[in-house]
Amino acid sequence: MSDQLAILGGNPVRSEDYPPWPDIDEVTETCVAEAVRSGQWGGFPFPGPNTLRFALRFAALHDVRHAVPMANGTVTMEVALKALGIGWGDEVIVPALTFSATAYAPMAAGALPVIVDVSPDTLAIDPDAVEAAITPRTKAILPVHLGQVMADMDRLTEIAARHDLSIVEDCAHSHGKQWRGRSAGAIAEFGSFSHQSSKILTSGEGGTLTTNDDRLAELAASIIDCGRAKGSNSEQGTFGANYRLSELQAAALAAQVEKLEDQIAERSASAAYFEELIVDVEGVRLLTVDERVTRRSFYRYIVCIEPDAFAGVGNGLLCDALDAEGIECWEGYPSLTRDPLFQPWLSRLPVAVEHADRLQPDVWDCPVSDLAGSRQTVYLDENIFRAGPKGIEDTVAAFRKISQSASELRSLTNET
Ligand SMILES: Cc1ncc(COP(=O)(O)O)c(C=O)c1O
Repeated sequence: MSDQLAILGGNPVRSEDYPPWPDIDEVTETCVAEAVRSGQWGGFPFPGPNTLRFALRFAALHDVRHAVPMANGTVTMEVALKALGIGWGDEVIVPALTFSATAYAPMAAGALPVIVDVSPDTLAIDPDAVEAAITPRTKAILPVHLGQVMADMDRLTEIAARHDLSIVEDCAHSHGKQWRGRSAGAIAEFGSFSHQSSKILTSGEGGTLTTNDDRLAELAASIIDCGRAKGSNSEQGTFGANYRLSELQAAALAAQVEKLEDQIAERSASAAYFEELIVDVEGVRLLTVDERVTRRSFYRYIVCIEPDAFAGVGNGLLCDALDAEGIECWEGYPSLTRDPLFQPWLSRLPVAVEHADRLQPDVWDCPVSDLAGSRQTVYLDENIFRAGPKGIEDTVAAFRKISQSASELRSLTNET
């Protein structure tokens, strides 16, 4: 009886909640209350005192010259591409396994996102697929440092240099992560961070662009501040809109950022313990974290299941079963190639029409992303990794319990 799956009426492995997120504390309350009392709530004039304080701290933590806070982690990428002069008729290469924002951003800048597959071991953008997708119209690569992994920045940097392309790193999952000692977001022309509610540094909504290039930083600041002229470029403005972060949000970030490093260290230590224990559970595959990732950090920790070891059950039902056992998780992103929003043959963009042959459904194929998103990935919530050894042991116990009773789960599927 004790082994009956919770989704079928048994007792859950874990009955206590994992720690809540965001991590509320008195310092954040005080900072936001002070911002409220100051009367300067909005983001104009940009940057306000809290925005500046946060930007300097965030830049220092990532060892990068500039951090430009803004409204969210989608417009960050749009602004980065616009600052790089990318727009109408250009192509930007993005991975198939990511949140839709990564493909939305090029479109918002007027460019065509060209979706390519990921590497099976890491689920990060496949450099060979990037190289194969380059055309004379390609202007940038937008790799995503998904979960605990990083895209191969050495190869991407080399490919970009050879083809005269820019790189914007989507670091929405990766605050504080490092590649050969350099922070994610400080390696390429731009790094794009999200501070949306669930992200590991949050103000509810928000985003930050990082760059080492003084001129790109000024352009980004101008674009988000209605095109106002900035810095050395004091005469000439740009074409921009209001994408500013509010001072209330910046106050929350300025407080929360002080906890980031400790939280990263705690999650990383828990991840190492998880990896030690989960190897004994059949059918759960760890992603390869490249040894050049010298500092680990993650928003969700991703594993792949082998459905055969779970009686053919896929990631959706497995996540429901884990959830019932008290383990907070999600099946993750489906491949963007299956998203009706990103079907290039439906586009009216001239470039999409012109490249219609190349982008038809039968060749518009990203098999690794397809299989991972539809059957294999399980994204474990970050708070599992802030709940001490017991939090990890419960998670592993839940995987083990489900794998041992997977045949019972089959009764909940329509599959034969
Ligand atoms: C990989 C990735 N990129 C970009 C974003 C967009 O961030 P935001 O929600 O702040 O716009 C997200 C947010 O979920 C994300 O997961």
